[in-house]
Amino acid sequence: MAVLMGGLSSEREVSLVSGRECADALERLGARVSRIDAGRDLAQVLTAAKPDVVFNALHGAWGEDGCVQGVLETLGLPYTHSGVLASALAMDKAKAKAVLAAAGVTVPGGGLFNRFDVAKSHVMAPPYVVKPNAEGSSVGVFLVFEGANGPPQQVVAPDWTFGEEVMVEPYIAGQELAVAVMGQQALTVTDIVSRTGFYDYDAKYGEGGSTHIMPADMPKPAFERALRMAEAAHGALGCQGVTRSDFRYDNVNDLLVLLEVNTQPGMTPTSLAPEQAAHLGIGFDDLVLWIVEQAYGGRGKSGI
Ligand SMILES: Nc1ncnc2c1ncn2[C@@H]1O[C@H](COP(=O)(O)OP(=O)(O)O)[C@@H](O)[C@H]1O
Ligand SMILES: [Mg+2]
Repeated sequence: MAVLMGGLSSEREVSLVSGRECADALERLGARVSRIDAGRDLAQVLTAAKPDVVFNALHGAWGEDGCVQGVLETLGLPYTHSGVLASALAMDKAKAKAVLAAAGVTVPGGGLFNRFDVAKSHVMAPPYVVKPNAEGSSVGVFLVFEGANGPPQQVVAPDWTFGEEVMVEPYIAGQELAVAVMGQQALTVTDIVSRTGFYDYDAKYGEGGSTHIMPADMPKPAFERALRMAEAAHGALGCQGVTRSDFRYDNVNDLLVLLEVNTQPGMTPTSLAPEQAAHLGIGFDDLVLWIVEQAYGGRGKSGI
């Protein structure tokens, strides 16, 4: 087996941890594992390694957006998680929101704006959120509140690499929720309580940055709605294997909104999806094994 980790994106460090944990699990399960730090020479490296199956533990640009999936299709290698189309669609927040809305999933309003317009003046009434259209791990996300110092200038900084168009959405107050879907079925709902009030990179990955309340403490109908919406989103985008959908729930207005579907969710034992699986009695190694079996069996991606 080959485990792809690291990669070229801003989520490289997270992926190195996901990859190591999954490779360790696969070795415990008895597989012979090549750990591959995926770079531009991926096709040559895999051609030489000749794995039976590829476990994709990459996150973010290139590894999660259909590019690596295209390389794997071209090489004719079975691989884990979603295929080319679902990966590319889920990574593009604007396009994903259009497809999800058409499928009846509630998504935030707002849309794409030129980053220079966003920096010049408020493009919508605060509070609102500015974020890259195609990134992950809360990189480049800015919350703009009433009485703040004006629109975020970071989007016009010389080191801004996240595209000319940025996603601007009304800020949804309330709880931060996540639902993992495993083979079309939602697992449970986790409420993520951040220490800083914002679920940023440190809150997500830092020691003690957030607390996970699982199952989430929220009204039962909204809990059920989150499960069904995550399943609908997974299906509408054509995802495979495991995904994790991120939500906001405004309990004052009973407004549940799906922010995005992650097609390559974090895969350390304390990551949200493995934690939800464990809650339902599926241990980390069992989850990794199930993900690999999905790569082998009836994927329907391109006849692999
Ligand atoms: N419309 C929104 N309202 C409130 N918070 C938001 C909104 N959009 C994003 N956020 C916050 O920013 C985080 C990252 O946004 P998300 O859309 O999940 O992008 P990514 O995880 O790919 O960086 C979310 O987990 C949430 O805490
Ligand atoms: Mg997210």
